[in-house]
Amino acid sequence: MQEQKYKTINLATASEKVKFNEIKNSSELRPLFHITPPHGLLNDPNGFCFFNNQYHLFYQWFPFGTYHGMKHWMHLTSSDLLNWQQHGSKITPTENYESHGAYSGGALVENNNAYLFYTGNIKNESGRDANQCLALLDETNTVTKYSANPIIKSVPQGYTGHVRDPKIVKHNDNYYMLLGAQREADLSGVIIIYQSKNMLNWEFKGELNLQYDDEFLTGYMFECPDLLRVDGHDVLIFSPQGTEADGSRFHNRFNVIYCLGTINFEQLTFKIEHWDELDRGFDFYAPQTMANTPNEQTLIAWAGTDEDLPSRHFGWVNCLTLPRTLSVINHRLYQQPKILESDSFNKIDFKKNKNNFPINLEQLSFSLEIENTNINISLSTQNKHLTVSILDREVYLDRSQYNHHPDDWQYGNIRYHKTDYDIENIKVVCDQSILEIYLNHGRDVFTCLFFPENEEHKLNISREEDTEMDIKLNYLTI
Ligand code: FRU
Repeated sequence: MQEQKYKTINLATASEKVKFNEIKNSSELRPLFHITPPHGLLNDPNGFCFFNNQYHLFYQWFPFGTYHGMKHWMHLTSSDLLNWQQHGSKITPTENYESHGAYSGGALVENNNAYLFYTGNIKNESGRDANQCLALLDETNTVTKYSANPIIKSVPQGYTGHVRDPKIVKHNDNYYMLLGAQREADLSGVIIIYQSKNMLNWEFKGELNLQYDDEFLTGYMFECPDLLRVDGHDVLIFSPQGTEADGSRFHNRFNVIYCLGTINFEQLTFKIEHWDELDRGFDFYAPQTMANTPNEQTLIAWAGTDEDLPSRHFGWVNCLTLPRTLSVINHRLYQQPKILESDSFNKIDFKKNKNNFPINLEQLSFSLEIENTNINISLSTQNKHLTVSILDREVYLDRSQYNHHPDDWQYGNIRYHKTDYDIENIKVVCDQSILEIYLNHGRDVFTCLFFPENEEHKLNISREEDTEMDIKLNYLTI
């Protein structure tokens, strides 16, 4: 396995290619409209941008197995963020400066060029090192590595080899690179910043000082920083590792937070007005927002941080979330899914005085929207259920019958959240083995993987009160 672990796709044998094709064509457990790897393992979204009249997206991809190995950048394009074409690996780690993988990073589009920044991951006797690298995506969809890579060799003094995931933003006439990092002194997580005038020569400026009047979280590593402006607010997003649980928050091995506030590049401060978990489900990590978005701000994330998922038996693991449109309303970040819903799809409207609706599902890719609350939604196969229960302002998501955590995971398979608002709308998007649950048009979101074995699926929607409810069910496809 070790040898396979750091092999590039260029070295795939004929028999491996045959196997890859079989995996690619097998549809078992595969979502229809969430992005999955053709074979092997997918993790973080990378290089998300709008360039040459198309959306471009890459993801971290290990082609040879369903474990973390040599990471490539798989390339996808789309004209609508819904239908995606996969083009194969476009950053394949063949150089010494990226000897153990082309790790995550973001894009910046300027002067008809899309600049892709990534981390060349190095493993050596003394542990780990990191180089920051550049590649150029051109109008023929070719990606060329910068000939003088790396643009930043190794890590600044005072930090361990865990420095990665460049996100570049432009402010006035300067470019700033945010990187996730770990301090050498106490092995704590931090975001560091470099500055450049031309995207090629970078100067280390220091740490981004996160200022908050009350307690703020800590961790041993901050991964995948992202920074953008949404509806007049600066938004900082990152994926801290080693965060302690706090009430019902941070119950996953990997969690993501967002901060609303104000960035000051001169002083290297981010003054936080509000911060919270970005997703309250089980499977959500390393989100990235689109660079140079033509219209709304859009985010996409890796759904599923565990390797031990049932789909590994079919040769692939993990998917991305749906692209989500971001907005800030009353100082909270909202996320709304992009889905293919239209009247041409099978749409069922119920409006009856009944307190219990059993529905035999025609297929497991659908969206369900319910106005009103105090509701219990149960998705069942013959003997397994997954439930979402809302009672007043309390939400429970229970997937106990589909356990994908390590056996000793102390926070189990129920996620609970108490809202500080009345829940009036719930939208569930289900796609074969992933559920995304949106409350009040994206005010809170829960992402959840589950792998049903059976062909027959039922939805049961029930409530205590015998009042009218409005349910919309849309079967979805691509
Ligand atoms: C986050 C992460 C990044 C890294 C990449 C490697 O999931 O660990 O920090 O660049 O994955 O695949």
